[in-house]
Amino acid sequence: MKPNTQFLSAWSVSSYGGPEKLTPVTRPLPTPGPNDVLIRVAASGVSRADGMMRAGTPRFARLFIGLKRPRHDLIGTGFSGDVIATGSDVTRFAVGDAVYGMAGLTFGANASHIRLSEHAVLMHKPDALSHEEAAVMSDGPTTSLNFLQNLAELRPGEKVLILGAAGSLGTAAVQIAKAMGADVTGTCSARNVGLVASLGASQVIDYRTEDFTKLGRRYDVIYDTLGISSYRKAKKALTRSGRYVCPVLSGGLLIDALRTAMFGRQKARFAATGMLKPEEQRILHGQLIEMVENDQLAPVMDRTYPFDQLVEAHRYMETGHKRGNVAIA
Ligand SMILES: NC(=O)c1ccc[n+]([C@@H]2O[C@H](COP(=O)([O-])OP(=O)(O)OC[C@H]3O[C@@H](n4cnc5c(N)ncnc54)[C@H](OP(=O)(O)O)[C@@H]3O)[C@@H](O)[C@H]2O)c1
Repeated sequence: MKPNTQFLSAWSVSSYGGPEKLTPVTRPLPTPGPNDVLIRVAASGVSRADGMMRAGTPRFARLFIGLKRPRHDLIGTGFSGDVIATGSDVTRFAVGDAVYGMAGLTFGANASHIRLSEHAVLMHKPDALSHEEAAVMSDGPTTSLNFLQNLAELRPGEKVLILGAAGSLGTAAVQIAKAMGADVTGTCSARNVGLVASLGASQVIDYRTEDFTKLGRRYDVIYDTLGISSYRKAKKALTRSGRYVCPVLSGGLLIDALRTAMFGRQKARFAATGMLKPEEQRILHGQLIEMVENDQLAPVMDRTYPFDQLVEAHRYMETGHKRGNVAIA
């Protein structure tokens, strides 16, 4: 079946910079190759990673996304929508399927349509998720499951501290850690204490009035979702075989991760979840879908902006104080 339009609407960033660099564009609708599906996007995410792609920061990330300017100018990573055309060899999807996924390093998810291989990070959307909720699954939920399960190796009954528990990664992490049978403590400001407790934290620390390193409590895992602490500071709040995991790379974290990989029982660990192979990411999504269907996980949505307000959505995302996730629809 052929789509009834010949163009797609998208957002382009042709040089690195602030939200004002985002420009609406129209492009010819791509034709699916034999293994591709063409998706009409219903909603797409606006994440911190999208902000980093737009700004080209940290600078070493430009090795992967383009040294002087973005290699792929259309922005956006997470999306959800409906399949409207399939290539001749596609077996996983059919026209009419509701799907969600992640565009990967070619980006282009903040658009009316996107073409992807059926072997990409592409999943059937569970009925329990709206398109907005599904569009953000590739950000906080996937990253936090990877960090808690694969990097921290969190076990049932262990104590976990989630720094930044009200953000995209944090709100997912509280729910996932709870579903994994851990005892969860989260940090956030006073206005988000109720939210974090309602997601499953048994204790909540207001980071504006209390310092978790000075409370005399020890955790098996500290998941620093925002890179606001460091392994060296967090060490004193870790048990003897405690793990500090952080998705925000810095020189200090890299050194601590390399050193603790060789010496000592306490560990510091980092990974870039979006760089995992698509099949590995699909396994994480399979587990997350099960949690969604068991009522253990629901992405927390803060604001959804209309498609033509992507610039405003980026400005809000960059305040550093969103609660959960931001999407455009
Ligand atoms: N390595 C990977 O695989 C990977 C994947 C995805 C994302 N990331 C990175 O992960 C980071 C986190 O992203 P995110 O989307 O979760 O962030 P976010 O949603 O923007 O975080 C916002 C939240 O942070 C809270 N916050 C701000 N300062 C805080 C502090 N000092 N202590 C505790 N909470 C604080 C705010 O709560 P209040 O309003 O209550 O202050 C707000 O709710 C980003 O740097 C992103 O690039 C890495």
